[in-house]
Order: sequence, then structure tokens, then C-alpha cells
Amino acid sequence: MGFGDRYIFVPNAVDIFSGSGGVTQGLRAARWRVLAACDNDPVAAATYRANHRKTKFVEADILLDKTIDDIAAAVGDQHVHMLVICAPCQPFSSQNRYRGGDAREQLIVRALNIAKKIDPDTIFFENVPGLATAAYKSVVSDVQKSLAEFGYVVTKPIVRDAADFGVPQRRKRCIMFAAKNQAALNAFEECDVIAPRKSVFQAIADLPPLKSSEVSETDVLHRARTHLPIALERLMCIPVDGGSRKSLPEHLELVCHKNRVNSFSDVYGRMSWHDVAPTLTTGCTDVTRGRFAHPEQHRAITLREAARLQSFPDSYRFTGRPSQVAVQIGNAVPPDMIKAFVPAFKAALAASLE
Ligand SMILES: C[S@@+](CC[C@H](N)C(=O)[O-])C[C@H]1O[C@@H](n2cnc3c(N)ncnc32)[C@H](O)[C@@H]1O
Repeated sequence: MGFGDRYIFVPNAVDIFSGSGGVTQGLRAARWRVLAACDNDPVAAATYRANHRKTKFVEADILLDKTIDDIAAAVGDQHVHMLVICAPCQPFSSQNRYRGGDAREQLIVRALNIAKKIDPDTIFFENVPGLATAAYKSVVSDVQKSLAEFGYVVTKPIVRDAADFGVPQRRKRCIMFAAKNQAALNAFEECDVIAPRKSVFQAIADLPPLKSSEVSETDVLHRARTHLPIALERLMCIPVDGGSRKSLPEHLELVCHKNRVNSFSDVYGRMSWHDVAPTLTTGCTDVTRGRFAHPEQHRAITLREAARLQSFPDSYRFTGRPSQVAVQIGNAVPPDMIKAFVPAFKAALAASLE
């Protein structure tokens, strides 16, 4: 075996808006090193630190110049192969009432000041599909202009579904990729990123069954929410494996839904065993906030089930109260989606050297 066979290339990344660490987890699973990460949420920061001890974590507001300096200091003179920017999704969400006038829209542009300082070979952006719509053309154009100024070319916003990357969840995301030459962009776009689909059954069927209020003796995250008697009565009327609130008898219909057939149609819905889960949100363990009921047990999914549907390994430690853990899980980028993209990242890095 020659030296070349034994040499393992370990790329370096920096993870901005890291949250509790979904992106970092995916990169590390593919044997990348994450030099530095930044987020201003103390609970997400605690979770990140508990799982990624070797990464230098900057817990601060990205809008401050000092934060940019601190991230650059954490990187030092190490070469950065990829900067990841997963700016908050809320400004670009279809549910945002302040669409177009939300100051947070500019966070993604401001975060580019880090690229200027640490000079990464490539930059990966992830956000909600709203960023790819006409409403945010000006934000995308501001990103493109800043990147061009710093010497990068960038793909158009591309919408992909995490379900196509082995994540047991329908989660459409808008991605963009920037590099210093067109060959690297072509290599990224030409790489066929795909992984076998995984169903809800494959992800959670092995977990012990629980009734309302029950907690697993071995796993604190596998804790069933306490449902009121009326909620339990409703859940018992929803057909197993994908049923919806349409099956509720009239006396159990929710007052706010009466005569509004199409509104909130997912509320009280059950997941289907052999499909992927719906997009998990920060309310993913609450049956009144989406199709978040277990496929056959009379309860909402647990935090453990939600973490599995986001492709977090059971060894991942989440800090905070149950409601805070639900927020961290709902906001996360699924680690397996990032892991599936690694061949495309590597193809781009290789092409950038040509
Ligand atoms: C979509 S979540 C990121 C998910 C994360 N990348 C992952 O892999 O799981 C967006 C994150 O941006 C953080 N954030 C929002 N505004 C910020 C700011 N001004 N400075 C730093 N972080 C911020 C939030 O706390 C949140 O954790």
C-alpha cells in the first residue's frame, strides 16, 4: 500500500447559524472536521457543545463585528474548505406575516462577511423553499452580488426534498452552493446526490409503545405527552396508519374547524407507516399543530421519534425543557441530508483544484 492509499482527506468546515448542530453532525458522520460554529441561542448552544466538544463555539449575534472576528480567531490560519450558512428560515417562510419587510432577511447577506474573513473554498446555503420564490429575488440577488465581490460564483436556488436523501421526512429545502470557479459549481451540480428512501416504519417502529403520559424507563426523550380525555377520544377515532380528522364524529369535531373542511386538515392526523413523515416543525410533538400523531398509538409522537425522523442518532444529547428540545429538533437541518451531499461537496473541492 502506497502513501496515497493511506492518506485520508479530512476537509475543514465552519458552521454558521449552527443551532443544535444538525449540519455539523452530518459533516462529522462523513468524517469532516468542523473548526468553528456560531449561534446566538443559549439552549441550542448548550446542545451543540454537549455533542461537538472539539469545535470552537461562538455563542453570539452574527450581526456584531466582534462575532465575525471571534469566528475568524477560532479558525486561525487553518484552511477552510466549506462555510455553511443556514440562516433562520422564518423570514422566508410562507407563514411570515412581515414577508419582504423582515429585518432578518438580511442576516444571510450579513453572514457573508465571514466568507470575506476566512476565505473558504466553497459555501453551502440551506433555507426554506420560500427563498427560491419571486418574493425574495432581491435577497438572492444581494447574496449573488456580495459573493461576486468576494470572488465566488453561485448556483441558482435549487429546491430539493430531504426525503430523497434517506431522511424519513418530507422536508423541501432551498439550497445554493458557491465556489471560486465554474468547474467546481458544475462538479457540484453534476454529482447525483440521492439516497434510498426511508419510511416512518423503518425509523421508529422498534421503539417501545407508550400510552398518553408514559415515559420510557431507559430514554427520557421517549416520553408521551399527556393528552386530555377529549383529545384521547378524538385520537381513538382517527384511523390508524394515515387517518385524518375527517373521520371524527360530529360531536368530537373541533369547534374552530366546523364547516371549514380544508383548513388545518393535518391537525390530529396520523403519520403513515410506509410513507415518510410530514415536515417536522417546532410543534412536532403536538397533534393540534400538524399531522403529528403516531401511526397507530393514541398519542402525539415523542421527542425521540421526532429526533429519529430528523435522522439524529439516539446518542445525540439534547439539552433544555421538552418544549425547547422540540424547537431544536424542528429547526434542525437533518444530519443525513448533509451527509448525502458530501460526495457533491467533495467533487466540487476536487474540481476547484483543477
Ligand atoms: C434554521 S436554524 C439552524 C439549524 C442548524 N443549522 C442545524 O444544522 O440544525 C437557524 C439558527 O439561527 C440562529 N440565529 C438567528 N439569528 C441569529 C443571529 N443574529 N446570530 C446568530 N445566530 C442566529 C437561531 O438561533 C437558530 O438556531
